[in-house]
Amino acid sequence: MLKLRYYGDPILRRRATEVRAFDDALRTVADEMLEAMTREEGVGLAAPQVGLDMRVLVALAMREPGDEDAEPIVVINPEITERSHETWVYEEGCLSIPGIRGDVTRPERIVMRYRDVNGDEKTLEAIGMFARILQHEVDHLDGKLFIDYLSTAEKMLLKPKLRKIARLNDE
Ligand code: CO
Repeated sequence: MLKLRYYGDPILRRRATEVRAFDDALRTVADEMLEAMTREEGVGLAAPQVGLDMRVLVALAMREPGDEDAEPIVVINPEITERSHETWVYEEGCLSIPGIRGDVTRPERIVMRYRDVNGDEKTLEAIGMFARILQHEVDHLDGKLFIDYLSTAEKMLLKPKLRKIARLNDE
């Protein structure tokens, strides 16, 4: 069973490595990540969050916050090729930073190129909540967390909470 990594674990700050082998091992990783996302009641999960140095993410294709029948998608080696000028603000959270939420401004629409679990090249356009989830997860693959977007003042206030979260990695 994949174990969640929390804020403070160095793997969350590294650029994850490109996937080259589209094999059974990758399919197993994808299945286990989908399982972990469901178990943790997340709407997205990136491989570094479960200790894996791979450019893999899973996400729910949500049309809006709280969308109950969103389909899961497995995304390998994503690259965001277009970002809309229009942005919107939403209070994000992260399985690796439990108990903390914060307003993040992101482009409303993106176009993303990626490979599926079989290695086939795909392109998708995402709007709204789905676009937000994908951007949050692609950030994880680049070592970036949503709290990085908060103001210096907000980050200062969060420091004690973040220190506590970091200790979860030792449990
Ligand atoms: Co996250």
